[in-house]
Amino acid sequence: MTSDQASHSGLESSAGATPALDDKYNYQVVRQFSAMAIVWGVFGMGMGVLIAAQLMWPELNDFFQPYSHFGRLRPLHTNSVIFAFGGCALFATSYYVVQRTCQAKLFGGFLVPFTFWGWQLVIVSAAITLPMGLTTTKEYAELEWPIDILIALVWVSYAIVFFGTIVKRKTSHIYVANWFFGAFIVTVAILHIVNSAAVPVSLTKSYSAYAGAMDAMIQWWYGHNAVGFFLTAGFLGMMYYFVPKQADRPVYSYQLSIVHFWALISIYIWAGAHHLHYSALPDWAQSLGMVMSLILLAPSWGGMINGVMTLSGAWHKLRTDPTLRFLVVSLSFYGMSTFEGPMMSIKTVNALSHDTDWTIGHVHAGALGWVAMISFGALYHMIPILSRKATMWSVKLINTHFWLATVGTVLYICSMWVNGLMQGIMWRAYNADGSLTYSFVDSVEASYPGYFVRFLGGAFFLVGMCLMAYNAYRTMNDAEEETVAEPAQA
Ligand code: HEM
Ligand code: HEM
Repeated sequence: MTSDQASHSGLESSAGATPALDDKYNYQVVRQFSAMAIVWGVFGMGMGVLIAAQLMWPELNDFFQPYSHFGRLRPLHTNSVIFAFGGCALFATSYYVVQRTCQAKLFGGFLVPFTFWGWQLVIVSAAITLPMGLTTTKEYAELEWPIDILIALVWVSYAIVFFGTIVKRKTSHIYVANWFFGAFIVTVAILHIVNSAAVPVSLTKSYSAYAGAMDAMIQWWYGHNAVGFFLTAGFLGMMYYFVPKQADRPVYSYQLSIVHFWALISIYIWAGAHHLHYSALPDWAQSLGMVMSLILLAPSWGGMINGVMTLSGAWHKLRTDPTLRFLVVSLSFYGMSTFEGPMMSIKTVNALSHDTDWTIGHVHAGALGWVAMISFGALYHMIPILSRKATMWSVKLINTHFWLATVGTVLYICSMWVNGLMQGIMWRAYNADGSLTYSFVDSVEASYPGYFVRFLGGAFFLVGMCLMAYNAYRTMNDAEEETVAEPAQA
């Protein structure tokens, strides 16, 4: 063990749970967020499978028009998987990790339940207003201004609770997972407040405070950093706690984790312009976005390597521990999507990939492979501890979930790669006389096999999520009480 491996004191001090944990820590809110992460996961992925089916069988749009239209359900899918499923998983894990690594109960009194109920209200409001067609039209920031204000209030309360707990910590050290969670909380607050600035004209309609290319740049500064901080930094916080914990090994290099942190947060913020290649944005800004995206490969892979190498000496555990398998496979997908992203940000590559299903494949390599899988691993680690059980109700079901999720993700992303490349190539094919070889409809027709495989992959993933819901329900509610606090899930 190197000296920096030994210095992960914040992590070590989190061990040793006692039956009186509910007095020592606020686990109630962690349980609530964990349960809702699973509920919203089933809902959001169910929506994903439904819209995937609509792209395959368009008549499915017709059931409850206009509410069941793809254009209205798509943002419901993205909001519910990112902010409801991902958001609840982030709240649950950050509250869990900050308490255990700081050896302190959550700060903030009534603000703690407010973050839970306020966030659920945001999600329910989204689930009502989006199918009604109420939207700002800004991707991942579609919710109208009254909901935006509620989000800002919840988020500021979250920051007070999280940083208040850090301030009252009983450890000298702030464990690196908290650095990532902290950066995620601060940055998302800034992104949300700046990008949502709008002029309301009624309770349900507002217009962006920005116009033209400026509006687009601010939207994609937000959009990309929503990926960078919501879908990446927060989940890296999870990775730095749950991978070492589940593997029962110290983090591979604490020094690397610090370099990883500063490099990642200082580079991500410049890369958003890669979403606006060949647009009205000044050319230099597009090129800056491209260069910063290429540089971003280094810290991303630094983090992945740090996580994977944490398993040195513990690889054999992968044979018997499906929770650890979730955590490690998520890192492989993280590495894959953060290699693919910089490649797609190269202008000439983007000229082919933009607007095709390649982007959708990239998104879900990150979303299913990284975000969802690391959350599953973290939840499977926490739920027995929160329920005072030695293990999850069924380890076999975790294993089945693991295979369904892995096969589902591979089917999803491979089909979208094939579709994406094919669409890009068909759209730019010319005949000798300069006319287009294929019409757009030709490319849609050629995409159907891929859409079917994607639907199948999504269905696999959803079935796995439902098994998790059942397993978690049984673990949380079965009568048998045990006082074992640390799960031995092998
Ligand atoms: C080094 C890291 C990454 C870079 C440089 C990167 C780069 C890119 C690029 C170039 C696009 C296509 C933009 C376009 O043509 O419109 C894109 C789209 C996207 N990426 Fe990444 N990516 C990275 C990692 C990730 C990860 C880890 C996730 C998810 C967890 C992710 C989620 C997304 C999403 C949601 C979009 C679609 C945005 C939209 O148009 O709605 N990316 N990314
Ligand atoms: C069962 C699993 C899932 C299925 C079947 C699914 C399906 C879909 C479909 C069909 C689309 C629309 C694609 C299009 O417009 O061509 C989509 C978009 C999207 N999904 Fe999912 N999804 C799933 C899970 C997730 C998860 C877990 C996340 C995030 C954590 C996610 C994030 C997104 C995002 C960000 C987009 C928009 C991409 C873009 O605009 O480029 N999805 N999904």
